[in-house]
Amino acid sequence: MQVNLRIRRFNPEKDKKAWWGEYTLQNVDPTDTVLDLLNRVKWEIDGTLALRRSCAHGVCGSDALRINGANALACKTLVQRLAPGSNRVKIQVEPILGLRVIKDLIVDMEPFFDHYKSVLPYFINDQPVPADGRERLQSPEDRARFDDTTKCILCAACTTSCPSFWANDRYVGPAAIVNAHRFIFDSRDTAAEERLNVVGDTFGVWRCRTNFNCTNACPREIEITKAIAEVKQVLVSGEI
Ligand code: SF4
Ligand code: F3S
Ligand code: FES
Repeated sequence: MQVNLRIRRFNPEKDKKAWWGEYTLQNVDPTDTVLDLLNRVKWEIDGTLALRRSCAHGVCGSDALRINGANALACKTLVQRLAPGSNRVKIQVEPILGLRVIKDLIVDMEPFFDHYKSVLPYFINDQPVPADGRERLQSPEDRARFDDTTKCILCAACTTSCPSFWANDRYVGPAAIVNAHRFIFDSRDTAAEERLNVVGDTFGVWRCRTNFNCTNACPREIEITKAIAEVKQVLVSGEI
């Protein structure tokens, strides 16, 4: 099949503003991914194309892009899913929105990771380990409370599809809330209050307008909007 690929390009050393690169690729297999296509452009047509990718299997979270107007991982998006049954396909690829473009499809992820770090995304418990030397035990029911939010790969597809984040990038964003949720609901952790102070402030969960873009964008199918609602509920009730 043939794919006409439009890629948003921007080289700050040469370009005053972003422009669209148009590339025609022949002999594309329907089971090729969008990442396969971007690699073909880079390796066969224009080696200056800049993009991030690593694992190519939906694990590292480095290739979240805006593909035909919706955020997704390029390595998990099959061409046949974008145009079922068609022999000529148009695909448009842009950097994710709301973060500064460094070059072409690469954005500055630092503000995203600053929000992530602000929720203390690591296990905190200074109490001594049990005297018998065993692990800190947890029931399957307690573990189930945060199982979904352990799956995050920090791809930023959620936060950069959120209109509240586009409107104000001080909003901590859904990815940070997902990672706060993962520890707030962990019965072994002791720093829920500190995290709730962060996500409960002016730029925390109350900026969420239940838009659901984040949930739709998540390549790990995390129920993000539900997790945000659970954190809101704890803030209102004071009970975890
Ligand atoms: Fe990506 Fe989902 Fe984590 Fe958001 S919650 S950063 S979309 S894996
Ligand atoms: Fe944004 Fe998701 Fe809430 S898209 S408004 S964080 S439900
Ligand atoms: Fe690792 Fe796509 S390249 S998630």
